Amino acid sequence: MIKSVTLQNFRSYRKQEFNFDKKTTVIIGPNTSGKTNLIEAIFLLAVGKSFRTEKDMQMISFREELGRVKGKTEDNELEIIITNGQFNGKISQFKKFLVNGVAKRRVDFIENFTAVLFSPEDLDIIVDSPSLRRKFMDNILEQVDREYRLASISYSKALRQRNALLENTRETGIKNEKQFEYWDGLVIGNGEIITGKREEFIEFLNNETKDIFDFVAFYDKSVISKQRLLQYKEAEVASAVTLVGPHRDDFSVSMFNNTRQDTHDVKFFGSRGQQRLVILQLKMLELLYIEKKLGKRPVLLLDDIFSELDEGHIELILEMLDLQQTIITTTHKEFIPQSVLKNTQVIKFSKEDK
Ligand SMILES: Nc1ncnc2c1ncn2[C@@H]1O[C@H](COP(=O)(O)OP(=O)(O)OP(=O)(O)O)[C@@H](O)[C@H]1O
Ligand SMILES: [Mg+2]
Repeated sequence: MIKSVTLQNFRSYRKQEFNFDKKTTVIIGPNTSGKTNLIEAIFLLAVGKSFRTEKDMQMISFREELGRVKGKTEDNELEIIITNGQFNGKISQFKKFLVNGVAKRRVDFIENFTAVLFSPEDLDIIVDSPSLRRKFMDNILEQVDREYRLASISYSKALRQRNALLENTRETGIKNEKQFEYWDGLVIGNGEIITGKREEFIEFLNNETKDIFDFVAFYDKSVISKQRLLQYKEAEVASAVTLVGPHRDDFSVSMFNNTRQDTHDVKFFGSRGQQRLVILQLKMLELLYIEKKLGKRPVLLLDDIFSELDEGHIELILEMLDLQQTIITTTHKEFIPQSVLKNTQVIKFSKEDK
């Protein structure tokens, strides 16, 4: 459980503390009152990255040099400090992770708290670009698996170096075989770890019972191996990018027809409603996967999704509120049934707060 969160120069917040004292918290506030900013901060404590931006600096309040998020769980005090590279005229680290005041690497920081986020953007996971689906897998696997986190970091680094080498080969026409051998080895080794764990996750999705919407997921794996790199060698030099590997992975989701004899890709054949049910089912499975791997339920963050879903879907979510700590944001309290509001902590935001 997350017991409290303190934001300092974080997005629209100058300084504010939130205490969560019930299993379910409902945050009601109009547009721009800071709901998503708070959810972003809590997610940041879980994953170490924003779900909205690749540029950490954007999370620092305008005209400030340093932003801070603190979170208290049952066991630890977590803290993330973000700067734009300097603070008080001195060069500083861009992002710092602390557990009980002790600096940590991101790989070690994020195992202290886990969260699953469901926001309106997630409704596009199935239909949008593959990068969104890779991010979906990464956010889950990075939270549960240290080896996956380490492999991801090493893979990204090696990939950057290898691409620079390809660029260099293209420019000079000289191929440094020794260096290629080194970076190839690293992308293959780490790539195989990533692929293996993604494969296992997709298998989990397929083996679990799906009460909300039955589907089958297909892992569209971009295999990385010595042979494949050899096969794409010339094309890679010409384009100066690595053309195979988990950074090109994707997965698709197919639904069954009535007789269960055929499957059809939900991206191309699913109605909007069916696509939403798939996402809802995926989110439920995400919670379950993390629970199975870590032995505890993650905190569920629901950012403004009730305005996007119909009554039946909302009912399905409300039924499982008791299973974990849940933090819900909404613009209108009418979206939340009275029966739910009775047993929850309600925090009201107003525009004038900030
Ligand atoms: N770095 C920043 N510094 C200061 N303010 C920011 C920063 N980034 C975003 N904001 C502002 O924070 C405000 C609140 O944004 P937020 O996304 O939390 O609103 P919200 O309550 O989720 O609204 P909605 O209901 O429209 O989703 C916005 O006015 C936004 O412009
Ligand atoms: Mg919002």
